[in-house]
Amino acid sequence: MEKLTGKKSNTAVFISGRGSNLKSLIKYSKSKYSLIKIKLVVSNTINAKGLIYAKKSKIKYYINNYKNIAVSEKQIFKQLSKFKIDLICLAGFMKILSEKFIKKFKKPILNIHPSLLPKYKGLNTHERVLKNNEKYSGSTVHLVTPKLDSGKIILQKKIKVLKSDNVKILEKKILKIEHKLYPEAIYKILSNL
Ligand code: GRF
Repeated sequence: MEKLTGKKSNTAVFISGRGSNLKSLIKYSKSKYSLIKIKLVVSNTINAKGLIYAKKSKIKYYINNYKNIAVSEKQIFKQLSKFKIDLICLAGFMKILSEKFIKKFKKPILNIHPSLLPKYKGLNTHERVLKNNEKYSGSTVHLVTPKLDSGKIILQKKIKVLKSDNVKILEKKILKIEHKLYPEAIYKILSNL
């Protein structure tokens, strides 16, 4: 990555849980190579452990319990407008954004998925990869479209699956590569805009 100058993209990161990718994105946002400024963290639950990283870095966060998708999305949209968000990064966000929301936002929405898409869309990827004795797995950053885990692939990184791997080990190895892959993918998409 080379240092680029100019305005940084106001970014919102959506989470539901642990938030290790959020943590790495916050670190990236503070680096000299960063093209983003994280303005807002959105979570669908107050129990998301990752909220701690927003709090630590004094980033505003917004929690919406998603009782009614249409209403929640309208409320989230208001927040995005308030913070003039021009990039959304989904990072372990367990809700599916509606087609209406994606079309209305108009700017890039990225997601990170722990498999070599188009293989293993959806949940429990590591279990399925191991069950099928795959030789490789990895992670993919892609653009979000109304079809789950199916938008244009921005970057993908592959690792070998070892005989000795179990779900926990594979998850740990893949998370480690994700923490580099997501910033790289953001850099790629924003430096080409
Ligand atoms: C990551 O493996 C990501 O690929 C998937 O959900 C997981 C989130 O982990 N979408 P974390 O909350 O960022 O630690």
